Amino acid sequence: MALDLLVKGANLPDGRTNIDIACAGGRITAIEPNITAEAARVIDATGRLVSPPFIDVHFHMDATLSLGLPRMNVSGTLLEGIALWGELKPLLTHEAVAERALRYIDLAVSKGMLAIRTHVDICDDRLTAVEALVEVRKQVKPYLDLQLVAFPQDGYYRSRNAVKNLDRALDLGVDIVGGIPHFERTMEDGPRSLKALCEIAARRGLLVDIHCDETDDPLSRHIEALTHETERLGLQGRVTGSHLTSMHSMDNYYASKLLPLIAEAGIHAVPNPLINITLQGRHDTYPKRRGMTRVPEMRAHGINVAFGQDCTMDPWYSLGGADMLDVAHMGLHVAQMTSREAMRFCFEAVTTNPAKVMQLDGYGLAVGCNADLVVIQAHDTIEAIRMRARRLTVVRRGKVIAETAPEVASLTLPGRPAHLDPASYFPKAG
Ligand code: FE2
Repeated sequence: MALDLLVKGANLPDGRTNIDIACAGGRITAIEPNITAEAARVIDATGRLVSPPFIDVHFHMDATLSLGLPRMNVSGTLLEGIALWGELKPLLTHEAVAERALRYIDLAVSKGMLAIRTHVDICDDRLTAVEALVEVRKQVKPYLDLQLVAFPQDGYYRSRNAVKNLDRALDLGVDIVGGIPHFERTMEDGPRSLKALCEIAARRGLLVDIHCDETDDPLSRHIEALTHETERLGLQGRVTGSHLTSMHSMDNYYASKLLPLIAEAGIHAVPNPLINITLQGRHDTYPKRRGMTRVPEMRAHGINVAFGQDCTMDPWYSLGGADMLDVAHMGLHVAQMTSREAMRFCFEAVTTNPAKVMQLDGYGLAVGCNADLVVIQAHDTIEAIRMRARRLTVVRRGKVIAETAPEVASLTLPGRPAHLDPASYFPKAG
């Protein structure tokens, strides 16, 4: 049987080089050196990194590309962002949310991102964004896996109809239960909301993804309650703690108690480096805290850590470009993860680790996995992060769905070659 696709000469994220990848019927059928077979399409990836797709495991699709609507965030703080989003929410229309989401997803696909978990605010009684994104999820299914989290942005108990609306959103087909314990009215309402939300997830058989302790307050310890509820309800491996920024500010003694609890509960940790470094520490003078959670320490405790993007051109963040290599680059810097091994981990934090969080079936470069992959203009994962290298070819189920020309500078300099591939350099001996 002829193959749908044969990728030749790939470098893989695990360090193997000159590997061929055969794809048929939407799956990887062989991955080994020197495959000779007829194929409808052959991609020469000699010396290029070929990776499974990028994943953004933490995003806000209902707010994306809304920058400046109805005004800009002047202070740059999380709280003004939430207030500004509250001004925009009543103005949202189904069509505008869907159109912005689809535009954003086009960009994401071009950057090799084929799975996104997005939170969707359920505090708008109309559930406009929920209905729009449920429709978008169906429309993009052939090329992108979209998971929706029912997110009570203004507080599960603090916002008037959130308790009712969260159930309504789940009834409409939203996949995952969200929460925001640090934004509830009192310190007691935080754990109370986690108890209720985890019970809903247990009853409905759903995953949980909580915006947890996104604050510089070292006494914001809702993650501790989340580990408790996870254990109590047997939700191990199904719960995600997003942000966890208060752990940056906690004293080391308490953190040493907390890290094993998170590991025991099998809670996934999702820091969002671009947003944590810009939103946290805003009330500090100098020194200013970085605000990102304790990534190397979490790794050392065996906690699954994935990096999310969180925002792109919305009330919280004016930049962002659907580029998970930007996210990995920032995460690497903020966590000071500069060893070769730690830099390679930062690539996993935007590929294989979020696949575990999202429980994606058939993800990865192995026989039997979905034929989803990205050819990158870099030799290896570290160079990919260093150059935020171009995604040359994006493949979904064995079919090419996006292509970008390689970056090749055209220089005219005395005594120098006329062309230079800026993405391909590594020091050689001598
Ligand atoms: Fe978020």
